[in-house]
Amino acid sequence: MASPLTTKHKIIERNVTLLAVLAFITVAIGGIVEIAPLFWIDSTVTKVEGVRPYTPLEQAGRDIYVREGCYSCHSQMIRPFRDEVERYGHYSLAAESMYDHPFQWGSKRTGPDLARVGGRYSDEWHVQHLKDPRSVVPESIMPSYGFLAETALDTSNAAGHLTALRRVGVPYSDTAIAAADADLKSQADPEADNAALLKRYPKAQARDFDGDPARLTEMDALTAYLQMLGTLVDVNAARAQERAR
Ligand code: HEC
Repeated sequence: MASPLTTKHKIIERNVTLLAVLAFITVAIGGIVEIAPLFWIDSTVTKVEGVRPYTPLEQAGRDIYVREGCYSCHSQMIRPFRDEVERYGHYSLAAESMYDHPFQWGSKRTGPDLARVGGRYSDEWHVQHLKDPRSVVPESIMPSYGFLAETALDTSNAAGHLTALRRVGVPYSDTAIAAADADLKSQADPEADNAALLKRYPKAQARDFDGDPARLTEMDALTAYLQMLGTLVDVNAARAQERAR
């Protein structure tokens, strides 16, 4: 004797359309449970003290980094594995790349991860390494980028770059955008008064980066960018903040 339940089951199994509709509803419930909360929470990234948008010079350096394809050999994402943390420092926090467009995550590494390379070497080391990697690391297979030191930095539209980034959510103020062209030049000018720049961008490093104070080159911008990577957040304090939550 077939019970009423098996009869109902047979109805579903023998009707392909009904089976498809019910299967869809069942799967959709799972999807809604996962996706719907994202519409109501303000942010999926926990804010972390110290993270700020890039200065116009750092951003210009970042654009050169992307243009030259440095990402094809270098990631900027330290994963929470012991070997990575021991080699590169505290694992990367999501907030540290919240203003990155495009982000530089990944695990394809021909060279080391650069997420915390800032401050690890001197400016002179970076300039020499970029000009001729084998002169400082004999076994290096990194290409030479000496032309960056000869190429004047394009200073024609820093405000435009910041405006574009603001459109995709980077919180640049009107003042920051109005000052962008001046900020771009003054950060690498050892003679300039950078008090306002430092107020706008805490922990910004202002100095001549490429060893040629007379000229503003792409090398200045790229070195300024490399030297700030991973320097904004006090990671141990951020972790304590996370624990206290
Ligand atoms: C073909 C792959 C390749 C490309 C492209 C490349 N690199 Fe490298 N990079 C390496 C390798 C390999 C090393 C390790 C050996 C060395 O220090 O030169 C390295 C090392 C470095 C280091 C030192 C990191 C450390 O912790 O010691 C920096 C900084 C760096 N690269 C920056 C850059 C920048 C900026 C670009 C783009 C302009 C770039 N690299 C492009 C392969 C590459």
